[in-house]
Amino acid sequence: MRDALSGIDLVHEIGRLKREKNAVLLAHYYQEEDIQDVADFIGDSLELAKAAKKSEADIIVFSGVHFMAEGAKILNPSRKVLLPDLRAGCSLSDSCPPEAFARYRALHPDHFVVSYINCSAAIKAQSDVIVTSSNAVKIVNKIPKDREIIFAPDRNLGAYVAKQTGREMLLWQGTCMVHETFSERKIAALKVEYPEAELIAHPECEASLLEKAEFIGSTSALLTYVENSPKNSFIVATEEGILHQMRKRAPGKLLIPAPPNQNCACNECPFMKLNTLEKIYLCLRDESPELVMSEELRLKALAPLERMLEWSN
Ligand code: 13P
Ligand code: SF4
Repeated sequence: MRDALSGIDLVHEIGRLKREKNAVLLAHYYQEEDIQDVADFIGDSLELAKAAKKSEADIIVFSGVHFMAEGAKILNPSRKVLLPDLRAGCSLSDSCPPEAFARYRALHPDHFVVSYINCSAAIKAQSDVIVTSSNAVKIVNKIPKDREIIFAPDRNLGAYVAKQTGREMLLWQGTCMVHETFSERKIAALKVEYPEAELIAHPECEASLLEKAEFIGSTSALLTYVENSPKNSFIVATEEGILHQMRKRAPGKLLIPAPPNQNCACNECPFMKLNTLEKIYLCLRDESPELVMSEELRLKALAPLERMLEWSN
């Protein structure tokens, strides 16, 4: 594909197509740097969902993963939603198959179902409310005290929220392949080498790592923390794409990506990284691949998403 596109100024062409077609490019912080640099809006899952809902563009190009593009379609159905690579899934979302989750819910019919936004529309449709990593504690605190809770699909975020809110919850045993990869042994060695460095982590990390973290938050919260902290060095335990904005907003600070267990690039999300500038150009040009969803499923998934937006205000 690169050969066929050689000679094309992708950044220029993406800009031209966006203007011509009244399209907007939304990108998550885990995208490649060149994508972040051409995006109209970069954010965490909650900010991106809000941006998608209020977008007046005719076309939303969602440079993120499938569940995020689905969220945009659910919230703003009259727009054409494009995802540069439909294979951009999510290991966490995949760890919660809809049929198995329906059977689990049937065992606990009176439980209030809280689902992390990193799940498919079919799981959202089975939920009472959706949360993101930036509003989960606030939203769980709003659930009536007499209701028992199921939290899906991320057991690490669920355990963190249970601890913060003091609410007992049944946890679906899903995990993210990126956030489970960090080596606590290597992080401990880094803390010896850089004693001033603060460990900051996304709540999808395992409990034993979170216990050692000086700050825990969503991608946006981690970014704001680095920017505003009087400290000058940080070990960052989340997908390493976030470092691009951290470097921009906090130039001169030392940012060390938390190392994975293996000698691999496992702290890069392989799904997020399927998106490229080439694919963004092609999907804008061809208006494909498009995210499509039945209206029946959309409406079922909309109610818990709208409840999230209402409760997180
Ligand atoms: P944020 O909502 O914190 O951006 O997280 C999204 C995500 O996929 C984390 O793995
Ligand atoms: Fe899913 Fe993990 Fe990738 Fe986030 S980092 S999109 S949770 S696989």
